Amino acid sequence: MTKPILKMEGITKEFPGVRALNGVDFELYPGEVHALMGENGAGKSTLMKILSGVYSETSGDIYLEGKKVTMKNPIDAQELGITIIHQEFNLFPNLSVAENIFIDRNDSKGKFGKVNWKSINKRAEELIKSIGANIDVKDKVQDLGVHSQQVIEIAKALSLNAKILIMDEPSAALPEDEVQNMFNVIKQLRKNGVAIVYVSHRMKEIFEIADKVTVLRDGKKVSTKLINETTEEELIHSMVGQEVGNLYPDSTHIPSKEVVLSAKDFYITDEDKVSFDLHKGEILGFYGLVGSGIHTLAERLFGLRKGSGAIKVNSNSVMIKNPKIAMMHGIAYLPPDRHRQGLVKELSVRENISITVLRELSEKTLINRKKEEKLTETYIEQLRIKTPSQNQIVNFLSGGNQQKITLAKWLATKPEILIMEEPTRGVDVGAKAEIYRLINSLASEGLSFILISTEMPELIGLSDRILVMNNGKITKEFGKREANQQTLLKVASDSDRVSEV
Ligand SMILES: Nc1ncnc2c1ncn2[C@@H]1O[C@H](COP(=O)(O)OP(=O)(O)OP(=O)(O)O)[C@@H](O)[C@H]1O
Ligand SMILES: [Mg+2]
Repeated sequence: MTKPILKMEGITKEFPGVRALNGVDFELYPGEVHALMGENGAGKSTLMKILSGVYSETSGDIYLEGKKVTMKNPIDAQELGITIIHQEFNLFPNLSVAENIFIDRNDSKGKFGKVNWKSINKRAEELIKSIGANIDVKDKVQDLGVHSQQVIEIAKALSLNAKILIMDEPSAALPEDEVQNMFNVIKQLRKNGVAIVYVSHRMKEIFEIADKVTVLRDGKKVSTKLINETTEEELIHSMVGQEVGNLYPDSTHIPSKEVVLSAKDFYITDEDKVSFDLHKGEILGFYGLVGSGIHTLAERLFGLRKGSGAIKVNSNSVMIKNPKIAMMHGIAYLPPDRHRQGLVKELSVRENISITVLRELSEKTLINRKKEEKLTETYIEQLRIKTPSQNQIVNFLSGGNQQKITLAKWLATKPEILIMEEPTRGVDVGAKAEIYRLINSLASEGLSFILISTEMPELIGLSDRILVMNNGKITKEFGKREANQQTLLKVASDSDRVSEV
């Protein structure tokens, strides 16, 4: 039997007010893909940050190939062959793709310490291609979408030729087809004997790519199993500690005939325009691949892009020139990239949730603290946000809990129309069920949703209708639960379909 390449023993980590890990043992073998699962805040990222030298453990031991090691910083870990792709991107927005991949690296310099740009760009290009992606390595990171940023993180990690590669929710921002490309890369690495830790909330992926799975709950290890000796139900049970019930509740809401938002020949680019109606109390899903125009449509509807198109909101013609006008007309937007547009990370949980409703909470110029606290408490409970208190700085929360706060913040505005992109990205399965219930019940109260999601089960399970976009046009409409994953993907990638419905 092969020996483990890594042994972590009795790892405990305390933060002020939180014990993130409590005596965790974790082993890793060469050539295995080891999934790490658990609810938001269970301790997955913390364990991986300890393994990669970002945090030091409060107590416990780490052995690499039988030898005890201490890592004071990420460079120590890198020198020992451990590389991590972080859940929160660590890229420099004003540098190019290639610069980001090779930053801080001695091997990027030629003789006399001069940087050889030609060779760097070429190597970066090869790396990006090897993942099956298509990005210009000279582009600045700030001009790229979330999914390209994810690709860069992966390329950067690959360039380091690690023995242990940690991927903390690498697929969270990737569309289906690129997840498959990434899996091919992972399979190749596994063949070469690299040990891979794969952190994800997506069951389907775990069963597709992992050999083993370890579950953490509340900072403790619950179990480690071979993937073919466990089931989805068993994993959910280990993670949540109770039954979750039906993930997609039978919808109780019935959309009315009344149209709340009507787009007619609404331009999303100079050439492409779309027409659709959103009804009161409806959950209207949109599906499309990267570049289909959906993201642009969402940003346009919220006034985030130059150029203005008119839409009708409650039969009134409105030019959505900027987000302020959109919000005045009851439109809110949950962006897919919470780092750029969603949260003020230096502020507390409470301040983030109440930021959009300050006017409502204020009496004259003072904020009514009691109301603010009550509002925050409601969302902490409803969305199961794991935080030591309302005063905790958002930056210190786990990734999934940050996502829940972004969602809470927009729900708190009680919009009439909520445009959501990837609302449950990185959210654990238990909290997902809660969020779906909440969306359904808000819809029965008359709130209307535009739901944009690459997670097909979610889109199919929640939407009253699904519009598929392809190449800047709406090419197909599906009724409730009429579409399945295959048909959606096929229509979305079909290049012959251009007729508009
Ligand atoms: N720097 C920090 N300071 C204080 N508390 C922290 C810090 N980092 C993490 N925590 C807390 O430690 C716990 C574990 O967080 P961690 O990020 O490891 O969770 P996770 O399992 O990765 O969750 P997710 O699925 O949401 O990413 C959480 O309660 C979190 O709020
Ligand atoms: Mg995490």
